[in-house]
Amino acid sequence: MQLYFDNAATSFPKPQCVIDAMIAYHEHCGASPGRGAYAQAAEATDVLGECRELLCELVNAPSETHCIFTLNCTDALNLAIQGIASHFQNEKVHIVTTAMDHNSVLRPLHALEKQGVSITVVDACNETGIVDPSSIAAAITPTTKLVAIAHGSNVTGTVQDIAAISSACGDIPLLVDAAQTMGHTHIDMQTMNIALLAFPGHKGLLGPLGTGGLIMQNGVEKIITPHRFGGTGSASEYPVQPTNLPDKFESGSHNMIGIYGLTASLKWIKEQSVETLHNLEMDLCNAFIEGLHNISGVRIVGAQTNSNRCGVFSLKFKEQPTIVAKRLETISGIKCRAGLHCAPYAHQIMGTTDCGGTVRVSFGPFHTLEDVQLLVEAIERCAKPELVAT
Ligand SMILES: Cc1ncc(COP(=O)(O)O)c(C=O)c1O
Repeated sequence: MQLYFDNAATSFPKPQCVIDAMIAYHEHCGASPGRGAYAQAAEATDVLGECRELLCELVNAPSETHCIFTLNCTDALNLAIQGIASHFQNEKVHIVTTAMDHNSVLRPLHALEKQGVSITVVDACNETGIVDPSSIAAAITPTTKLVAIAHGSNVTGTVQDIAAISSACGDIPLLVDAAQTMGHTHIDMQTMNIALLAFPGHKGLLGPLGTGGLIMQNGVEKIITPHRFGGTGSASEYPVQPTNLPDKFESGSHNMIGIYGLTASLKWIKEQSVETLHNLEMDLCNAFIEGLHNISGVRIVGAQTNSNRCGVFSLKFKEQPTIVAKRLETISGIKCRAGLHCAPYAHQIMGTTDCGGTVRVSFGPFHTLEDVQLLVEAIERCAKPELVAT
């Protein structure tokens, strides 16, 4: 039984090959890539390149050098948002985002507001969480430099129509936060016209914490100023930051133990295929939606069907979410998350702010239909506290 239902925070468990690869790195390699000519450093350099290749293949990104490793998805989003704002610092800068976005987009934007950047937060439908591409088009002004949107909501699981949104953006670069979709949802940077794709390595990509990245379309790097500078193992004779990619944006030693793990998880995903993982996710979603259908005292917040969604569900009970989440753990060992999930505007839109947010459950590739059944039964008991005592 897999009782961990907090995959939207970070995925657990990881495929065994991820753990094996991380142990093997520590036991047999241990070196920093691009920092030496000896065999272990060369091996680490190869694995770093292989990881970029696998990431680019997964999302049909045009160039591996444009795949930048970061600490996590937040770091990647900051690089894109702050990098564009700094590049245009002598002009008026306006950035568009949506009410469904995460604090890792909202907070950098609100911080930039203090430096004169203007922002527009586009509303979403209060039933489905869907953002209408025409609202994005309407928010764009002559000074708009970036549109940032979460592909999948970490509150409601709503998946936005990125192709339609990118056409609404016209020439304005689109930054997609793929934190809740990459690895199990089809993403094609070229056909979807995504200028910048930010991702965590540790959620749907099934790699370890401390991994993530930002993939850029060719040319977008010219309008991003790095916000971190330092050694790259290259062009060491120059005391200024190199301009070639990825070195322009990748200063300091890499998280190689994490990247070994991520490379292994990407190979595992490739073997399974994104389509298979997506179909499994949809089966789990269907079973969950169906299972909750006849249970009173709980409702799904946001999309009630399988269309335009991923395996992240917010639930509203009569009682406070923290009480229900604790009870789920106590009676059935279920691990889930209660609260506002770092997405304050999404809860405002859904009308779940005043009650302390929601109980969030989120699926991973090791869940089965039996696990979902167990979850549904536990929710039924929690929705009717009188059943818990019996
Ligand atoms: C939609 C969304 N964006 C960004 C993030 C930030 O990801 P990370 O924890 O890798 O920084 C999260 C994390 O929960 C998220 O759900």
